[in-house]
Amino acid sequence: SAPVVEARAEAMAEPEVRPPVSRQAPAIAPEPAPAARPAPAMTLRPMTPVDNLNWPELAKQVAECRACPLCEERKQAVLGVGDLDPDWLFIGEGPGAEEDVKGEPFVGQAGKLLDAMLASLDIARGNRVYIANAVKCRPPGNRTPESAEMASCRPYLERQIALLKPKVIVLLGKAAVHALLHDDKSLASLRGKRFEFAGIPVVVTYHPAYLLRNLPDKAKAWEDLLFARRTLREQMTPELPF
Ligand code: URA
Repeated sequence: SAPVVEARAEAMAEPEVRPPVSRQAPAIAPEPAPAARPAPAMTLRPMTPVDNLNWPELAKQVAECRACPLCEERKQAVLGVGDLDPDWLFIGEGPGAEEDVKGEPFVGQAGKLLDAMLASLDIARGNRVYIANAVKCRPPGNRTPESAEMASCRPYLERQIALLKPKVIVLLGKAAVHALLHDDKSLASLRGKRFEFAGIPVVVTYHPAYLLRNLPDKAKAWEDLLFARRTLREQMTPELPF
């Protein structure tokens, strides 16, 4: 529809504003390097062993996880995919049949739409983006993961967030909102608002599988992505004190 086309055109016309921040360490450190210490805990809760895992340890633990019944029927656990130093973190619900086989999130039909959504933002899987799920094992029959299953998997999601330190988190659908923010309100009421998790801005949009069944809502998802991009840009260019 016209507003979508206009919005897209406007988005395409906007030049990419990225401050000249190098991801490499400066040649001369201005101060002595601080001693290595674990990333801060995500929430006010007791630390768990997962909070100290590095990527290979986390991947191994998730692959071998037996913390909830979803492990019984999975072919493999699906940790996530993408840039390990991302601006964006997209969080879906859980692996479906194809993801369970391939070991990568969002590789089926919903994944194709997610890739198109990323392309509309001029980003791509693996480049400035990491994609994860609220649960790492496929719920049988692709049902929505239960609260207890999402709670079992949450330490892994929190550890991913701590290691990735994304600048914005986009929650795809109700289950992801429930898993991260513990909010059960309707998605429609949560869109367009900025939430926070561990100091990172969080925005909410429809799950791509929902959008495949409700094509007119794609325009709303596009609005949400533009909102997420504005949020990201605010993070990257903080207001100057004058
Ligand atoms: N749906 C999800 O939420 N995640 C996937 O990885 C695939 C489909």
